Amino acid sequence: MEADTVKLAPSILAADFARLGEQVAEAEQAGADRIHIDVMDGHFVPRLSMGAPIVQSLRRVTRLRLEIHMMILNPDSFLEEFVEAGSDSFLVHWEGNNNLHRTVRRIKELGKYAGVAVNPATPAAVLEEMLPELDQVLVMTVNPGFGHQQFLHSTLPKIERVRQMVERLDGCCEVGVDGGINQETARLASAAGAGVLVAGSSIFGDNLGVATAMGGLRASIARHKSNLLA
Ligand code: DX5
Ligand code: ZN
Repeated sequence: MEADTVKLAPSILAADFARLGEQVAEAEQAGADRIHIDVMDGHFVPRLSMGAPIVQSLRRVTRLRLEIHMMILNPDSFLEEFVEAGSDSFLVHWEGNNNLHRTVRRIKELGKYAGVAVNPATPAAVLEEMLPELDQVLVMTVNPGFGHQQFLHSTLPKIERVRQMVERLDGCCEVGVDGGINQETARLASAAGAGVLVAGSSIFGDNLGVATAMGGLRASIARHKSNLLA
């Protein structure tokens, strides 16, 4: 994907929660496309993280799309609560959901964007029938549940495969990646076909600040592109 078309989705899991509003505002000013909110229930993944009250608070400080990554059992039971809090978009996992089609339909009925996330061990092929219904596929580039993990390079061919599947359907939906994204892996993932990069620690954990970190990610993708053209 071209540097200027790659979208950045800062994940607040790595933010300083004492300064959350400020950091999200900084990300918005620096051109973030959306804010990624990781919801964990201690069952689907080992950790607990945050719930709808955070969405409600953030709704007051940003106009950006609030994207909810549901790492929870029974996401259907929580959709309405998150919609009422101000969520715009949901990423639900293929894993552990026996009725994924129903979940996606429900999200659409609520008038929100629907995406499906796939873990590193899950093949791209499971997405085939669902793709025409989706707004986004999220290829997990780490095993979900924790920030600050190392990008799994074995997911790169899957990003390419998902991109090809999406192109066969005339670019039906976005291809996102989540986990271990830094300047180096942003370049690799976007070259493989990712158009949305979720990044937590490399944006909110950068000592030079959110805007500089986002600029660094964009620059590394752009450098790659200009090297290819040279
Ligand atoms: C991991 C989460 C990610 C996480 C990414 O389960 O889905 O969104 O915040 O964090 P980094 O960018 O630090 O790997
Ligand atoms: Zn996430």
